[in-house]
Amino acid sequence: MKERPIGVFDSGVGGLTVVHALREACPHESIVYFGDTGRYPYGVRSKRVIVEFSRQLALFLEREQCKFLIIACNTASALAIDETRQTVDVEVIGVIEPGALGAVQATRNNHIGVIGTEATINSSSYVSAIHALKPDAQVTALACPLFVALAEEGYSGKEATRLVAEEYLAPLRDAGVDTLVLGCTHYPLLKSDIAEVMGPNVTLIDSATEVARVVGDRLRLRNHHSETHETTSYRYFVSDTPEKFARVGKRFLGHDVAPVTLIDLEDLHHLHDTTISKQ
Ligand code: DGL
Repeated sequence: MKERPIGVFDSGVGGLTVVHALREACPHESIVYFGDTGRYPYGVRSKRVIVEFSRQLALFLEREQCKFLIIACNTASALAIDETRQTVDVEVIGVIEPGALGAVQATRNNHIGVIGTEATINSSSYVSAIHALKPDAQVTALACPLFVALAEEGYSGKEATRLVAEEYLAPLRDAGVDTLVLGCTHYPLLKSDIAEVMGPNVTLIDSATEVARVVGDRLRLRNHHSETHETTSYRYFVSDTPEKFARVGKRFLGHDVAPVTLIDLEDLHHLHDTTISKQ
């Protein structure tokens, strides 16, 4: 069990922010990553479709003998965690609860902001997770869809990003939140732009860092953590454009992204069909 990899999936390249955090928090762990680049983005899709895609990716990673699954995608975590848990026998964690916990621990004035994709914000998952921990917290949530493209294009620090950030975030800043959850895989790349608009008194919560810490703690608690570098490996799978994934991914990971293997979408569909007919 100890030497088996951790599985991580996302709608595309953004979940590499979670891989980055995981490599820092658990340097001995092997990781198998699936980026669903062929069906990206998830943030504008319906629950039905996101559930279907998430199940397929979880089954793929279970077949890779993963000892633990992380849904790195905030949108999939928000809309499909229960169904994903029902699909596989491996323990599954999403980014919503760890992000909510980090925010509740950080807030001083009890007013928390959350930003994410449209699907994540419309699901109210962060609001529910925060209220489950702190029923009296005031939560202001806002979709910031343009941030995703700006992060992928490497637009951190540029004027266009500053203008978009000001437009999106001014209402949150003016509402007086003292803590802001970066509820999307891509937003950590724009952390400095977001911090500049929000000001020095607002704590930014990075769900990627929070989930990596929780996973490290759980593996150690169960004695399932890897103790050696000798078997550590990283493997990446995508459903389209592996070259682009490797190129853009380097910005998210801070390392070369290799080896990247292309998986046919038909194979993913087939995986799910086989499991359904077994039940
Ligand atoms: N990975 C998605 C998330 O964290 C953002 C990109 C997408 O829309 O698929 O919500």
